[in-house]
Formats: sequence, structure tokens, C-alpha cells
Amino acid sequence: MRIFMKILGIESSCDETAAAVVEDGRKVLSNVIATSLEEHKLYGGVVPEIASRRHAESISAVVSEALENAACTMDDIDAVAVTYAPGLIGSLLVGVNFAKGLSLATDTPLVPVHHLRGHIASNYLTSDIEPPFLCLVVSGGHSHIVAVKSYTEFEVVGRTRDDAAGEALDKAGRTMGLAYPGGVSIDKISADGNADAFKFPVPKVSTSPYDYSFSGLKTVVINLVHNAEQKGETINTADLAASFQKAVVGCLLTNLEKAAKDFGYTEIVIAGGVSANSLLRSEAQKMCKNNGWTLNIPELKYCGDNAAMIASQGYFEYLDGTVADESLNAYATMPIESSERSE
Ligand code: KG4
Ligand code: ZN
Repeated sequence: MRIFMKILGIESSCDETAAAVVEDGRKVLSNVIATSLEEHKLYGGVVPEIASRRHAESISAVVSEALENAACTMDDIDAVAVTYAPGLIGSLLVGVNFAKGLSLATDTPLVPVHHLRGHIASNYLTSDIEPPFLCLVVSGGHSHIVAVKSYTEFEVVGRTRDDAAGEALDKAGRTMGLAYPGGVSIDKISADGNADAFKFPVPKVSTSPYDYSFSGLKTVVINLVHNAEQKGETINTADLAASFQKAVVGCLLTNLEKAAKDFGYTEIVIAGGVSANSLLRSEAQKMCKNNGWTLNIPELKYCGDNAAMIASQGYFEYLDGTVADESLNAYATMPIESSERSE
């Protein structure tokens, strides 16, 4: 059943201040993103204090613009959905507090949304896909294989035991002297590199066949670069980036393929910032074609952090009866499965 509803989404978990209006969880009416990325580039990574300050400065204008672009006022909005976990606590609090104030002032229901659930929902914005499906969620902070049982029921099948894929790409990129975010730089420079120039080991993880480990691969890069520096040798950065990217993508897809086969999923979905990676996208396509599976990856504009995905997931959470009051808090960590607070 289609229930006509407009949701205002607000996202501020990292360095993007974003607001969007989405109808029925799928139709994007507006999608506004302000980012403090350029400032963080100076430091080679996100500086939480700077991110929070920029959120506080821009959130009001970003939300106004999202409403205006959607030709809406708060009278047209059925619920305000906000990312409340996980993420940088100071950043999250800006969005949560703004959303609480707006909800209270306009008597509009407030819906808390888990950031990774939002990333998964970014696929609903550009495709008609419906759960159940198996989703690889790969971002700067997480690498999960998630069984998406319904719009609001999730089970983590595999996870990284150390670095997230995006985190490993960012750190390796930094070691190679590439601009932040390293994942984006590695993707770009790899186009000119030989992906077979450097051999990377296949990480062994004892916890589960679906779990990941990326810190060992990252250490290989660090050691190669430092050894070369000590010997006064130069390394071909494009070759190293391409080889490292191939190793990371290989790990991501090997476990995803195994999980899909073992659990009998034929609908495969990829989400999160790293889903923008060109090799991951093309290799996932091949994997799914070989197995006769369907693949969904968000459009590039919805891969990174945005509020349309939060509004989309907010719609499904709201239909499921999830509403918060003014006691809603933000949490740096939170399992995707539960709405319970994690320590
Ligand atoms: O989902 P996201 O925007 O923020 C978090 O929730 O963490 O993901 C950011 C991550 C960063 O690690 C960034 O390097 C990575 O996504 N990323 C990429 C690409 N675009 C963004 N990694 C590889 N290739 C890309 N094209
Ligand atoms: Zn994200």
C-alpha cells in the first residue's frame, strides 16, 4: 500500500550537513548538501570540532533550502527524520538538536534514523528494489554484510574485525601522499596503474567466513612506502594504489559472494561511500552476472552522505511506528540491528 507522505531528512553524522525532502520513501523532491571537506583536507582527515562548528553554522540554511527546493513549508511535511547514530557525536548532536527543535516548534513527528540503515535506503531512491536482499555496506566507518529482511529488520552476517574498507583506503592513500579522502584519490589514480604490480596477501579472519580484516593490507602499503623511502627508491604510486584497491575490492566481493550463496540471496545491494568506487561497481556487476543475480548500487550522488537516504529510511521507520520525543539523544556507536543504545 502506498501512503502519501513527505519526510524531511536531516543528516550531520560526519562532515556533510544535509537536508532533503522525499515523498513516499522513494521520490526525491530536494537534496541539499553542504560540506566542510575542503577544510579537513588541510589536516588529512575529518577534524570533529571543525565539522561540528560548520554544521551549527549551516544547518538552518540547508534545511530552509531543502524545503524551498521541494516547494514545501513545514505544513507539508509529515515527519522529520534525523540521523541519531552512529557518527561523530558533536556532529550528530547538531542535527538531532535542530530536528528536535523543529519537530517541537511545528508539531511534526520526529523519527530517529540509523546512518547505515540510511545508506541502505539510498538504493530505494533510484530503484524499485524491496527487501529481502543482501547488502554490502561499505563506508568510512563500517564494512558490513547485512541481511536486509524487511525495511526495518536487519541482521549483520559479516563485519570488519579492524579497519573499515573506507578507513583503510583513506589511511593507505594518506601514506601514499594522496589527497584526502584517500578512497576517492586511490580510485582516480588507479586508472593509470597496473593492479598486478604489487601482490597483497589474502587476510585470514578466524571469527567467521564473512568477516573482514583490512588493517594488514593497509600495513603492507605503509611498509612498502617506508622501506622505499629508507632506501631512497621511488614507488609507482598509481601501481601501488591500483594493486591495493584490487586487494580491498577482492576481499569485499569474495565474502559477499560466499554469504549470498550460503544464505541463498539473489538480490545483491551495495551501499555507503565506498560504493562509489569504480572497481567495486564493475567487479560487483561481473560477480552478479556470473551468478545470475541482480545488483543494485546507488547513483553516485547518493553513495556518499546525504539526507535523501535518511528521509527515505525515515519514511519506512515511521510507517513501522518509530517516533521519538524530545528526550532523543545522539550516539557515536549503535548496532544496525537494534534501536537500543550501545556502549
Ligand atoms: O558513507 P561515507 O560518505 O561516510 C561515512 O559514513 O563514513 O563514506 C566515506 C568513505 C571514505 O572512506 C571515502 O574515502 C570513501 O567513502 N569513498 C570512496 C570513494 N568515494 C568515497 N572509496 C573508494 N572509491 C571511491 N570512489
Ligand atoms: Zn556514511
